Amino acid sequence: MNLADLRVGAQMSAKASGLEGVVVAETRLSHVDGERGELLIAGSRAEQLALEDPGHFETAVERLLQLGAGEPQPRVQEQLAEARVRAFARLPQLGHALCLPDAMDALLATTAQGSAGSDALGLLGALPVYVAAGVRLRAGQAAIAPDPTRRTAQDFMNMLALPENAARARALDSYLVTVSDHGLNASTFAARVVASTGSDVMPCVVAGLAALKGPLHGGAPGPVLDMLDATTNSEPRPWLERELAAGRRIMGMGHRIYRVRDPRAFVFERALARLEREDPQKSAISARLAHARELERIAEALLNERHPERPLRANVEFYTALLLEAVGIPRELFTTTFALGRGAGWLAHVAEQRQTGRLIRPAARYVGSMPD
Ligand code: COA
Repeated sequence: MNLADLRVGAQMSAKASGLEGVVVAETRLSHVDGERGELLIAGSRAEQLALEDPGHFETAVERLLQLGAGEPQPRVQEQLAEARVRAFARLPQLGHALCLPDAMDALLATTAQGSAGSDALGLLGALPVYVAAGVRLRAGQAAIAPDPTRRTAQDFMNMLALPENAARARALDSYLVTVSDHGLNASTFAARVVASTGSDVMPCVVAGLAALKGPLHGGAPGPVLDMLDATTNSEPRPWLERELAAGRRIMGMGHRIYRVRDPRAFVFERALARLEREDPQKSAISARLAHARELERIAEALLNERHPERPLRANVEFYTALLLEAVGIPRELFTTTFALGRGAGWLAHVAEQRQTGRLIRPAARYVGSMPD
C-alpha cells in the first residue's frame, strides 16, 4: 500500500484493528520488510550499519538526522558529548524526578523537567545522563560525571560504573545502532503525531518514551530475562505451556510486521558471538545463549501449534535481553537503554514530519448509542 491508498487504508482501519497495514507516512529513514526479514536504516542494511560501518551510534544519529532534517548535521559526536555535560550540570535541579522508583517513569519525568527547550542533539545527549544518574541516585550512590572524550556507548557504561571493556562497549554501540529506527513502530508514531501538531521537540520525545514503556513494545526484554531465569534449572516446555494456558504472552516472541525471525535477533546473535570469543565472562554468555536458543526453539513450536496461520518468531527483545545482560546493563534499565537508541529515530522522524506540515488526525467510526 502506498500513500495514494491512504483513504482506502483509513476505511480498512476499523476492521484491521491496530492500524495494521495502514500507511500514514512516507519516510526515508528506515524500511522494514516483514516477509523477507530485512531492515534498512538510513539506506544501509541494519547488520552492516551496526557491525561494520563503523558500528558507532553517532554515525547512525548523523545519517538519520541528516535524512530527517534534509541538511548536513555537523559535529554530531561533539554535540552529543557537550549535551551530556550540560545535562549533568542540570541534575541538581531535577530533584525527585530522578529518583522515581521505575526507571522509565524517572526518564519520562527528567526529560520533561530537564530538557524543555532543548534541540534534537541536546535532548538525545541528555538521555544517557538521566538514565545513569537516576539508577545511581536511587541506589544511594553519587552520579558519575560524563566524559566528553568518549562516545555515547562507552560513556554510558562509564556513568553506570561498569568496568572499562572495549568489546562490551562495541556490543552496546551495535545495539544502539540496531534499534535506532524501525519504521512506524508505536513510539515513533506517537512522536510523529505530537510533531504533527507543531509541538516542540521535548514533548515528542516524551510521547515516544511513554509508548515505549509498554510491555508489548519496549518493556519486553526484562521479562525475557525473567523467563530465562525461571527455566534455567528446569524443562522450559512445561513452563511455557503453563504461561500460554494462563493466557499470558511469551515475551520476546511475535511481531506486528515480521512473519520471519526478526533480523535484529541475528545482529544481536552476531554481536554476542563476538563477546563469546573475547569476553572474560565468555562461558556464562555461551551458557545463556545455548539456553535461549533452546527456549526459542520450543516457544516457536508451541506458538506454531496455536497459531499456524500467523508465524510467531523471536523478535528484537529476545536477544536484546541477552546482549544487554552480557554488557552488564542492569535489568531494570533495559527499556531505558532501548530509548537511548530509539531516541535517534524519534528525533529524525520528528524532523521529517515537520517537512510535511500536515496534522496527523485519523478518524474513528462511532459505534455508541444515539440520543433519542
Ligand atoms: N505469545 C503468545 N501469543 C501471542 C504472542 C506471544 N508472544 N504474540 C501474539 N500472540 C497471539 C495473540 O494472543 C493472538 O492470538 P488470538 O488471536 O488467539 O488472541 C495472535 O497471536 C495475534 O496477536 P496480535 O496481538 O493481534 O498480534 P500483534 O501483531 O498485534 O502483536 C506483539 C505483536 C509484538 C504485540 C505480540 O506478538 C506480543 O505481544 N509479543 C510479546 C511481547 C513482545 O515481545 N513485545 C516486543 C515486540 S518487539
